[in-house]
Amino acid sequence: MWVTIGLLCIVLAGPVQGRPSWATSEGNSCSSCHGVNLLTGKMQVSSTRVLTDLGTQLNGKVRGHLKTFRATPGDVVTLSVDVLDGYDKFAVQLKRLETGGQVNDQNNLLIWSEANSPDNIWTRQEVNNPPYFTYDNGQNGGISGSVTPDSYTFDLLIDANTPPDFYDLEFAVAGKADGVGLWYQDEHFYLEVLQPDKAALVAQILAAIDIIDTTGFHDMSEEIEAAQTMAEVSPRNLGKVQKALIVTLAVAWPKDLAGAAVLFEDSAQALVDALTSEDLAAAKTAAAEVHNTQHDLSHVVYEWLSAHPAETTN
Ligand code: HEC
Repeated sequence: MWVTIGLLCIVLAGPVQGRPSWATSEGNSCSSCHGVNLLTGKMQVSSTRVLTDLGTQLNGKVRGHLKTFRATPGDVVTLSVDVLDGYDKFAVQLKRLETGGQVNDQNNLLIWSEANSPDNIWTRQEVNNPPYFTYDNGQNGGISGSVTPDSYTFDLLIDANTPPDFYDLEFAVAGKADGVGLWYQDEHFYLEVLQPDKAALVAQILAAIDIIDTTGFHDMSEEIEAAQTMAEVSPRNLGKVQKALIVTLAVAWPKDLAGAAVLFEDSAQALVDALTSEDLAAAKTAAAEVHNTQHDLSHVVYEWLSAHPAETTN
């Protein structure tokens, strides 16, 4: 009974559009009104560890190091932003999907569609092209009253015909705080669409997993576990883990492997941090963890390789 009433209310309330829809007449810019208070520390593109500095982009902009998501054509890429402090009320915006490529050709356009996963709860705000998206927080046209940190993800399906290039996208957060009024913060990031060359991808993955598997994480974790003091831990371990981490970050992991790769990267980074700060207890935990995540990554990689031989298709 309650379920029925709940559903009825939602239907009757309809798609309420709040202020986040106002930028359709303002060149998609929330900052044209909310930019009276340009704040920092309210949001960040979720860390991707991969940073790219393109120098001067084709459109003349110099953006410095930008966080970079990667995808091969045909992949779904999960873009994600952290709202660190909602500051009374806010809404999240994703935009610039219509911006041309910034390395190869500005006529290169991202050909995309919303992947429509259950997590993709965004409203396409569109009067005249180009569209932008705002996240649906509850039923108030995308507006959230939560001040606690939260992450928002957008699953974007990259069409198989999208030209390889760097695409300069942007997350923005605009809101209204008591005593401050309207406020705004944004961050640009890159979506790097990679060459869909299966043979090259397979070669890349093979080279990486060989280095990762032969780093010696098993012996390393036993050595660190047995150590009573940091002095008993060989200083060579740090370099080995760093190398394996760099190799993992350099690979454009296909989406089936990306999860295991990120878990490995996280634990390898934790071990690098522990060894650098000479924290033996943390190093023991991290060394055991990285040994596990390395095994898991290796396992899924070999499964993937057997399912995806590097056949030539053209
Ligand atoms: C044309 C100017 C304008 C643009 C563009 C604009 N806003 Fe606003 N926005 C306002 C004003 C004015 C208010 C305050 C309205 C009020 O207090 O009732 C507001 C309020 C809000 C609020 C708080 C709503 C509330 O319930 O208090 C949010 C969140 C918000 N805007 C998000 C956005 C986002 C996100 C964008 C861009 C996608 C955007 N706005 C673009 C003018 C604008």
